[in-house]
Amino acid sequence: MDCNPLSLTLCGVPLQNPVIAASGTFGFGHEYAEIMDVSRLGGISGKGLTLYGSSGNAGMRVYETPSGMLNSIGLENPGVQHFVETEAPYMRSLGPAVIANLGGHCEEDYLEGARLLNEADIDILELNISCPNVRAGGMAFGMLPEPAADITRRVKAVSRHPLMVKLSPNAPDLVAVARACESAGADALSLVNTFLGMAIDVKQKRAVFENVYAGLSGPAILPIALRMVHQVAHAVRIPIVGLGGIASAEDALKFLMAGARAVQVGTMTFAKPGAMLDIVDGLSDYCAEEKLQNLQEIVGMI
Ligand SMILES: Cc1cc2nc3c(=O)[nH]c(=O)nc-3n(C[C@H](O)[C@H](O)[C@H](O)COP(=O)(O)O)c2cc1C
Repeated sequence: MDCNPLSLTLCGVPLQNPVIAASGTFGFGHEYAEIMDVSRLGGISGKGLTLYGSSGNAGMRVYETPSGMLNSIGLENPGVQHFVETEAPYMRSLGPAVIANLGGHCEEDYLEGARLLNEADIDILELNISCPNVRAGGMAFGMLPEPAADITRRVKAVSRHPLMVKLSPNAPDLVAVARACESAGADALSLVNTFLGMAIDVKQKRAVFENVYAGLSGPAILPIALRMVHQVAHAVRIPIVGLGGIASAEDALKFLMAGARAVQVGTMTFAKPGAMLDIVDGLSDYCAEEKLQNLQEIVGMI
């Protein structure tokens, strides 16, 4: 019997705890491995990949907001082939479960990216149909049930990895998109990606970001993300990974109680690099205080 109260399985993959580094906020782990014990994380979702890589967006890329931040990185990444050869083996050497986050500008990008990732030693493929910061594709696939189901079905058909689809909170009917992805074969869902926001420089009389709109993340979005996780958890049977503004073990517990089997932490890592390890410790303490044999006992209790 496994006596680690934080252990779980996600899509058949064993995780030592439910705390996963969110895509785009942890690189592939290199920088953080120098300053913290990354082997204690449950998983790491790498930077969002595109088939041929990208240098990302021009102009301002990050902008602080009350209790959060806006970003317009635009999926800067080294490309899938480089990931397969270099980053995936490195991520595997770190210990936590390895998640590859795949974006795309068109359907063929996603399919070819997923085929190439069959060569990679990863545990889960996270399909990013929710990036608000690329001009073509990205979030467009995640806005409506039909395109979301279509891309899920096609990627599932070519991929050998468990498929977790990352949803956009900007979808007009997120529950319908979640149900569509489940019907199309998704093994899990992660939600949420960033909320579409905007900043204006009043002195310069212009939008701060070249793309005008950007993605809002951090504690400011937590209550809305939590509500969305709760709604989706009541609508699907597949596991959910919840995220959006998590900064503490208490925040992580809220997402678990709302129905998430695991959580991801993004923006908080920028403010406090050790935040995820504090969350792991806090969850352990909670299990001891509440005399839980396994933390999963609280999943979906609300
Ligand atoms: C700077 C930055 C870059 C991001 N890049 C990606 C990405 O490449 N792929 C992705 O799926 N999500 C990306 N995200 C979204 C996060 O993974 C996460 O869904 C979102 O920030 C909400 O969680 P948080 O409030 O804990 O940051 C990015 C977020 C930030 C702040």
